Amino acid sequence: MQNLTISTQPIAGQKPGTSGLRKKTSVFMSRHYLENFIQSTFDAIGGVQGKSLVLGGDGRYFNDRAAQVILRMAAANGAARMIVGQGAVLSTPAASHLIRLNRADGGLILSASHNPGGRDADFGVKYNMANGGPAPEAVTEAIFARTQVIDSYRVIETVDVDFMKIGAQQIGKMEVLVVDPVSDYARLMESLFDFPKIRALFANGFRMRFDAMCAVTGPYATEILENRLGAAKGTVTHGTPLPDFGGMHPDPNPTWAHELMDEMMGADAPDFGAASDGDGDRNMVVGRGIYLSPSDSLAVLAGNAHLAPGYRAGLKGVARSMPTSAAVDRVAAALGIASHETPTGWKFFGNLLDAGKVTICGEESFGTGSDHVREKDGLWAVLLWLNILAERNEPVVEILNGHWRRFGRNYYSRHDYEALPIDQAEAVMGALRTRLTMLPGTRIEGMIIAAADDFAYSDPVDGSLSKSQGLRILFEGGSRFVLRLSGTGTEGATIRLYLESYVAGPEGLDVEVQEALTPVIRAAEALAGIRAATGRAGPDVVT
Ligand code: G1P
Ligand code: ZN
Repeated sequence: MQNLTISTQPIAGQKPGTSGLRKKTSVFMSRHYLENFIQSTFDAIGGVQGKSLVLGGDGRYFNDRAAQVILRMAAANGAARMIVGQGAVLSTPAASHLIRLNRADGGLILSASHNPGGRDADFGVKYNMANGGPAPEAVTEAIFARTQVIDSYRVIETVDVDFMKIGAQQIGKMEVLVVDPVSDYARLMESLFDFPKIRALFANGFRMRFDAMCAVTGPYATEILENRLGAAKGTVTHGTPLPDFGGMHPDPNPTWAHELMDEMMGADAPDFGAASDGDGDRNMVVGRGIYLSPSDSLAVLAGNAHLAPGYRAGLKGVARSMPTSAAVDRVAAALGIASHETPTGWKFFGNLLDAGKVTICGEESFGTGSDHVREKDGLWAVLLWLNILAERNEPVVEILNGHWRRFGRNYYSRHDYEALPIDQAEAVMGALRTRLTMLPGTRIEGMIIAAADDFAYSDPVDGSLSKSQGLRILFEGGSRFVLRLSGTGTEGATIRLYLESYVAGPEGLDVEVQEALTPVIRAAEALAGIRAATGRAGPDVVT
């Protein structure tokens, strides 16, 4: 066993995005690439001497090799202890929980989330802090700065750790503790939700389908839904995690989870359906014959969370990312609690959760979570829904219709234009940005622009300012569109166009979504000219 210091040189482009560093797997596998980024991360957090870290990933291609390298580097850098999920696998929320449960100093999560996996697909690495949440911008910037000057990294030359063997092993002086990835997480869920009540629901014939999309949630969902809650065997489909996700695109939305959508919209559909993403932090929920937008799901969860034991005391506040619809704001107003609006990315919820200002938060991108961990949590959202369904004893469609009757409906959709030439996408953003100040007062498609800005967020806890978080065009009456560039893609640029229109009801609550949004869609094209500038006939993905 030899402790080596290897000379290296900075590699361009190691800048973490919305959620860690994501690149093509082949890029991560190239010489020194992973090592440079890991050493830079260790350096940026003040070294790992004597620290304990959690390590795990979503099991995608290169997961196990990367995990072995990281362990050797951690040992060479003097880490005291690494807690690793069996098989080097942990869902993102389970990793967050393990960091908190073990009072670890932080964690490394190997995942490119909903991006496809495989040798020709994507890989990613994310650093989480001692609170269990994604590193805030100040830390990711420090990591990036370090990648630009790095000249060496440390690694121990030794044999592989046996990732399948539960229990303690050693690399030099460092302990490697391999743990069951599911059990602690399942216990946490049992502490939050009324498992006997949900078990009774299933015992009474309630049927569900959970599509794990050949990704990391399979074992978690099978253990919790089928083994502990008594859902019928086979409730979980695509439940075996595969390195390439079986060729599936593990992004739980109507486009990529079309098998689930077809079943839920078909004859004899189950009562409830759900899907999860590559690393288990996202969720899509579907009722029999009815799709729920993530923004509506967040609002319904916030309005009904008190029905679950873990939230019986009520919510301290809620938070949503800026592009997420304002539906949850209306619930918060009715509950008399604050609703915070943050930039896109879970890292911005961390301070609010730590400070006890919010209990539940969510994003329009199929992410919902609470203060039980510091990541979004797909299965958590599904279980909260099940708890609510068990208490209310009404079909999903009734709950949703009742919600709209009470609060009005925020029609909502996101249009993604993917893999655009970067300069083209930036030109679209730039052109709209320069016009922002001139837009208020303009009438377009029968609507009047009330305000237009480039969203900036001042964190109420630590005062940090995050600028340029998306262009917002707000119309009188609550309609709006938002334009931003994705920070998670690995190919070209993706423009996300977020569209929202509010109808108070009681009339007009069941219009087809794209139809209800037509004036906003037209106004967005007239003002931002995405189709005109890119030559695209329409978006690649509509959610
Ligand atoms: C996307 C989502 C964002 C989410 C992130 C990580 O980021 O839009 O809400 O937090 O993935 O799951 P984007 O590609 O838009 O930067
Ligand atoms: Zn994810």
